[in-house]
Amino acid sequence: MRVYFDHNATTPVDPAVSDVMVGILRQEFGNPSSVHHFGQLAKARLDDARSAVAMLINAEASEVVFTSGGTEADNFALRGVAEALEPSGRRHLIASGLEHEAVLTTLKALARRGWNTTLLPVDSTGIVAPAALEAALTDRTALVSIMHANNEIGTIQPVAELAQLAHARGALFHTDAVQSVAKIPVDVRALGVDLLSLSAHKFYGPKGAGALWIRRGTRIGAILTGGKHERNRRAGTENVAGIAGLGTAAELAARKLQPEGMRLAALRDRLERLVLERVPGSAINGSREQRVPNTTNISFEGVEAESLLIALDLDGIAVSTGSACSSGTLEPSHVLRAMGLPAHRTQNSIRISLGAGNTDQDVDFLLDRLPGIVQKLRSLTRVAR
Ligand SMILES: Cc1ncc(COP(=O)(O)O)c(C=O)c1O
Repeated sequence: MRVYFDHNATTPVDPAVSDVMVGILRQEFGNPSSVHHFGQLAKARLDDARSAVAMLINAEASEVVFTSGGTEADNFALRGVAEALEPSGRRHLIASGLEHEAVLTTLKALARRGWNTTLLPVDSTGIVAPAALEAALTDRTALVSIMHANNEIGTIQPVAELAQLAHARGALFHTDAVQSVAKIPVDVRALGVDLLSLSAHKFYGPKGAGALWIRRGTRIGAILTGGKHERNRRAGTENVAGIAGLGTAAELAARKLQPEGMRLAALRDRLERLVLERVPGSAINGSREQRVPNTTNISFEGVEAESLLIALDLDGIAVSTGSACSSGTLEPSHVLRAMGLPAHRTQNSIRISLGAGNTDQDVDFLLDRLPGIVQKLRSLTRVAR
């Protein structure tokens, strides 16, 4: 038996999505920029997908620009706005310490090119305080980028309030919604943001397809230049099959959103309750109220997360850690560190992210093995000392 508890890393492609994609790959090879029948068939696929994505986030189809995924959408938002606003003298960017590397690394690259950057602190529950943003904003701030839901702990940021504060100082607001779209209702109008990133493979669509939603009238430069694709905003012949897969995944998500969210939250809450009951020295990280329904992040005192991940994998259970292993040393999760967790706790936490295929049996399977594995790892650590 194998159980997949890593849906925040990626999700399996829904069969309805792959059916659409295979059909296109086999039979519809046209270039959507061509005026003939073949091209128009492909263009119709893009139009349908654009409408489906727009519908999922309460946007207009013309505001959706397809990208190669979340990383490109984040790069596009940050670099595109930086390019457009550079001449205005606004040369300050703000993000939070919780952001995905797609934002953090891009911010560093812009800092090397002379942009001032501020990383906002987060509280111990993994939430950005609006007061911290208010204090950091200046009349030279071009863009604020704060993610909607965090990939490691699942916490949801008060984006609507944060966006209002940014706008009050004349700055644009981008949110990376890669981990919230299709998990909770995402409404770009209610959030009041200017730019929003999403990625198909986080909600049963294919890898390599995503979108940046750009509020009409937002000043943004293109980062991929070439032909006039995507209304001059992103050059390159579109990944028609991938985009059609994204559209189908968006349609499916819109239909299932509420019942699936409730099912996953109940499953996740049961999992947490049983872990806390049966594994001494375990603790949940991050807010348990303001978070997406499928994610939990749990610390196990005295257990190195990487060893736990490997032991669980040997037993057929796939989870993940927020830590990155670089040159043989374990780097603690930047998210848990930003929350101010003590060093040991940032290194003994795993993320469990549930999804469509998970059932109570999967949770039982995990709970059958986890307490024994944790106990064994703790005794090994004691022997090693
Ligand atoms: C919050 C967040 N942003 C961006 C990305 C990058 O998305 P993609 O894998 O589509 O490039 C991810 C994926 O892990 C993510 O979780």
